[in-house]
Amino acid sequence: MRMYDLIEKKKMGEELSTEEIYHIIDGYTKGEIPDYQISALLMAIYFKGMNVRERYDLTMAMRDSGDILDLSSIDGIKIDKHSTGGVGDKVTLVLGPIIASIGVPVAKMSGRGLGHTGGTIDKLEAFPGFDAALSEEDFIKQVNSIKIAVTGQSKNLAPADKKLYALRDVTATVDEISLITGSIMSKKLAAGTDAIVLDVTVGDGAFMKNKESALELARSMVDIGKRADKKIAAVLTNMDEPLGFAVGNNLEVIEAINALKGQGPEDLMEVVYALGSQMIVFSGIETDKAKAKKLMEQAILDGSAYDKFVEFIKVQGGDDSYARDVNKFVPAKHIIPVNASESGYVHAIKAEAIGLASMYLGGGRETFDDVIDMSVGIVLNKKVGDEIKAGEPICYIHANDLDKASHAEEMIRNATTISPDKCDHMKLIIDIVE
Ligand code: URA
Repeated sequence: MRMYDLIEKKKMGEELSTEEIYHIIDGYTKGEIPDYQISALLMAIYFKGMNVRERYDLTMAMRDSGDILDLSSIDGIKIDKHSTGGVGDKVTLVLGPIIASIGVPVAKMSGRGLGHTGGTIDKLEAFPGFDAALSEEDFIKQVNSIKIAVTGQSKNLAPADKKLYALRDVTATVDEISLITGSIMSKKLAAGTDAIVLDVTVGDGAFMKNKESALELARSMVDIGKRADKKIAAVLTNMDEPLGFAVGNNLEVIEAINALKGQGPEDLMEVVYALGSQMIVFSGIETDKAKAKKLMEQAILDGSAYDKFVEFIKVQGGDDSYARDVNKFVPAKHIIPVNASESGYVHAIKAEAIGLASMYLGGGRETFDDVIDMSVGIVLNKKVGDEIKAGEPICYIHANDLDKASHAEEMIRNATTISPDKCDHMKLIIDIVE
C-alpha cells in the first residue's frame, strides 16, 4: 500500500477502505509514515470529508493505537461524561459526586486546561495532595469502593490522537467533523465505559460556534458511539457566556462546592441536571429523566452529594478540609471591580474573551508547560439578560499582578455589551441528540 496512492484517492473524494485506514493510523503512530504525507491526507479529508463507515474505522484504528481500559471488574454500568470545552465549566465537579451518591459508578478520565478553556484535573489539584495520576488498579478499586474516581488521561491512551492532533494544530485542519469525531471518540472508547454522555458546547467560547455545526458533530459522535455498541447521547449547551459566575481554578472549585450545598447558579445547575438525568437513565437506576432529576435534587438537599464530594477528595489523597471550609483556599492579592459605565441590560459577556482574560491573569495555559496560578480569575456579578446600573460591577477581577489586571479589565470591557433594550437570559439547553 503506497501512501501516495491513498492521498490521491482521498483527494479525488473516494472512500478509504478499513484496511487502508488502519494502515495509515498504524504506520503514523509507529513513525513509519512521515508528517508531510499525513498533512496532505488531513487536508484532503478536510475538503472531501469521510463517510460514517470511514469515521468509524478511523475512530477504532485510533482507539486501537494504544491501551484500552478494561473496567469490567467495576460493578454496574460505567458512565463517562465529556465536554467539548468551555469557560467556567465546572460541571464534572458538581455532576460526578451527585450521581455517584445516587449509586451510578463514575469512572472518569479528565484533561487539563489549554487556551481559554479550563480542565477538570487542574481544578481538582486545587486540593493539596490530590492524586490525579491513579494507576488502573487503584482507579478501578476506588470506583468500586466509593463510586467515583477522576484521573488524568493515561499516557498511552489513543497515542495516534496525540500525534494527529499536534499535526492538525499546525496544518489548519482541526475544525473538520470526521477528524474531531475520531479524536474525541477514540479516547472515549479507549476509556472503556459502557455509556457516554457528551456535552457539546455551542457558541462564542466553544469549539463549535453555531448550532448547525455543533449538531453535525453531536450526530456524528453519537452515530459512532452506537456503532461501537455504547449507550450514548449528546446535549448541546450554550457557551456564548461563561457557565455560572466563576472563571479560574480555585474560584470555580468554590462555586462547585456551593452548588453541591444547594447554592448553584441556575445556568450551571440546568446543565448538570440535563447531563445527569441522562446518565442516571443510562445506568438503569431510573427510566424517566424527570424522576432522575428529582433524585439529583434530593441528593443535594439531603447533603449526600456534598458528602460524596468530600469523601472523593479525601480518598483520592486531597486535603478535604478545603472542601469543608472554602476559606482555606488562598485568595488572590487584589479583587478589583469592573464597573459598568452606563445603565441598561447586559446583552453579551463573551465567553472566549473572559476565558482569555483569566488565562492572561495566570489562570490558564498558553502551552502545556505553563504553570497555573490557582487563585486568579474573574467572578461575574451579572449575566446576559440582567439589568445593570452605571457604576455597578459587571464582574470582579481576582489578580496577583495589577498590570495584568488592568489589561484583563480592557479585555472584559471589550467582551461586554450593555444596551438600553431589554434582553432575555440565555437558553442553556439547545438540543439533545440520542
Ligand atoms: N477535542 C479533542 O479532543 N479533539 C478534537 O479534535 C477537538 C476537541
